[in-house]
Amino acid sequence: MSRSRFAGISMHTTMTHTLQHNRLPQITAMFRQPDITLATSCLIHDVFPEGVPIFATAASDGSEALSLATAMLVNESGRKGVPLNAVDIADLGRRYPLEVSEPDAGRIDLLSQHYIELDDVEVKTTNNALRILSRVIRCPTPALATLDQFFEAVPTLPDPVKTSLARHGDPPQQEGFEWYRIKPPLTDWITLKQGSLEDRIADIPTDRPVVVLFSNVARYVHELHRRGEHPGLGALARQLGHRLAPGSMLIIGHQDTVQGIEEGKQTAHETIAQASPLHALQMVLNLARFEHFYLERHLIHNGFVPLDAQSLRDYDITDTPNQVWFKP
Ligand SMILES: C[S@@+](CC[C@H](N)C(=O)[O-])C[C@H]1O[C@@H](n2cnc3c(N)ncnc32)[C@H](O)[C@@H]1O
Repeated sequence: MSRSRFAGISMHTTMTHTLQHNRLPQITAMFRQPDITLATSCLIHDVFPEGVPIFATAASDGSEALSLATAMLVNESGRKGVPLNAVDIADLGRRYPLEVSEPDAGRIDLLSQHYIELDDVEVKTTNNALRILSRVIRCPTPALATLDQFFEAVPTLPDPVKTSLARHGDPPQQEGFEWYRIKPPLTDWITLKQGSLEDRIADIPTDRPVVVLFSNVARYVHELHRRGEHPGLGALARQLGHRLAPGSMLIIGHQDTVQGIEEGKQTAHETIAQASPLHALQMVLNLARFEHFYLERHLIHNGFVPLDAQSLRDYDITDTPNQVWFKP
């Protein structure tokens, strides 16, 4: 990534920071894959200037979708030459409707009340990512391209939100994280749906191109399949292949590619030596579950084509091929 416009904020950097924290890494994060998210925000504006529906599946607490939304706002500001706080969010939302879906009821409940838990690494990574993007895209108000433009730290969750979450048995708060309220520009933009991948993919319109975020969920599906509880990644790739109209774009996660899995293993090995005993044990257990599950092969088999090498270079996602796919 050293030659990249988005240098210094690659997946490797993020992962190393997260793992070096003396606690279990959370399963998602704001700008978890900053290079991919920033490049995706630019690609969406370039490939679909008139707009396109976006479906963020397996969204967990919404971090990935919210990261993309903040990056798209910065893009809109730069491309239109308007201050970030004057972007016509209603127009952006009409052109790029963003559906965020997740099967976990507690996650959807929390998001519907506009709260998210963030740690200091995420705050720094988000500020760093938005700062770099605002420079690349020539946002006229780079000083506004920060996390606190979109999120506001709150000392605690309001009591009604706590009561509502308790119904799902969710833990009150992870150690080292703080609560943030998601501000209206983002909350007005997204719509929330609770549901499995299969259900949400079944609702995707087939008569026009769409963008689908399908990140870092393959390992879960693979695990369910091994236990006989899911038809598997092949079946999901077939459903995506049938459902997505020509011209559609599919984004997968770093941990969904063979290269990403190998890098994840390597980074974890390097970090285990510095981890606390409990953390190290958890990481060893996680590592044992890392294996190849060939999502890429299933996608190729079902008509998807990875973004070509030249475009990868143009968008500076050179360190991980096969993250962005098109349906020709
Ligand atoms: C590691 S998180 C990925 C979150 C986000 N996409 C990212 O890349 O950071 C995996 C998410 O997949 C969800 N998930 C697991 N199995 C699923 C299924 N069959 N359908 C939809 N989501 C699923 C989990 O609830 C979890 O929130």
